[in-house]
Amino acid sequence: MKKAEYPIDKKEWSPSLIPGPITLISTCDQAKEPNVAPKSWLQMAAFEPPTLMFSGSKENTTEKNILAAGCFAVNLVDSSMAVKVYGCIKWSGRERIRKMGITLSPARKIGAPLVDQCRAHLECVLRGTKEVGGGFVVFGEIVAAFVREDILAAPPEDRYRLLDQVVFLENGLYARVRDACPAQAAKDELPGRWTRYVITLIRTDKPMTEALVRRHVAHLKDLDRRGRLVLCGPFQDHEGGMVIVRADSLDEARAMAEADPFVREGAETYGLRAWELSCEENDHMGMG
Ligand SMILES: Cc1cc2nc3c(=O)[nH]c(=O)nc-3n(C[C@H](O)[C@H](O)[C@H](O)COP(=O)(O)O)c2cc1C
Repeated sequence: MKKAEYPIDKKEWSPSLIPGPITLISTCDQAKEPNVAPKSWLQMAAFEPPTLMFSGSKENTTEKNILAAGCFAVNLVDSSMAVKVYGCIKWSGRERIRKMGITLSPARKIGAPLVDQCRAHLECVLRGTKEVGGGFVVFGEIVAAFVREDILAAPPEDRYRLLDQVVFLENGLYARVRDACPAQAAKDELPGRWTRYVITLIRTDKPMTEALVRRHVAHLKDLDRRGRLVLCGPFQDHEGGMVIVRADSLDEARAMAEADPFVREGAETYGLRAWELSCEENDHMGMG
């Protein structure tokens, strides 16, 4: 396929050719006043000692605080926070923290706070800076790292979905990192990689109440938090709905269907079928 020339100015990129992880960098000034700002020009710089780098501006509070206090924390942003993070830069300082509805806790090893609502944090000590053109690159040695316990307790193939990290694409657009794909040949693939389970929910005569719908939604949210929910929603004809889940077996999927308050309390019956994904990635089951 012929290639078209593309702008070298990143601001004009659509699609972006270098997406970066969206993080909140938290710092304190010398009077212990906290600050939190989004950064996405961030990546690893060295394994030994573990060092990351991000690019910012010397005019920003974040970089001023880091130069003054010698440390910062990187808080990973997930999709539930993404819109708030994009919108937060119209405020600054304490007002930004308050308007975002985030709370802060002390870090373990550094004098910068951690954002409680984030699922993972890296505590960093300043190891150097470098000015490049208009950019100001900060190098931080990672001295402590934390990840939410339920993410570490989940099977490795579910962990990225639970971390639900987001990357910056362009102004006003982000992407979710949810599908961890094994980088190995198809013959070594994990069994069930392409299997999902479809639960069809069918209304009975029992009346729906708002409280029951909320219990059903709490069940869906629990499936999602455990990395099991793929898609869900009611049919527009109000005759029921469909929930697509990941499970290790038909029995596990059946247990999920039967745990649904709609089913448990008799407002809906369900049908369950194992479903094989046919997609570009598996060459439409080898038939593409
Ligand atoms: C999603 C997102 C990613 C951002 N990434 C960066 C970045 O990597 N580097 C940077 O200097 N500014 C970045 N910004 C802009 C800063 O967050 C913004 O200039 C902010 O006001 C700086 O705040 P501070 O003065 O409190 O440090 C980003 C903004 C958003 C919304």
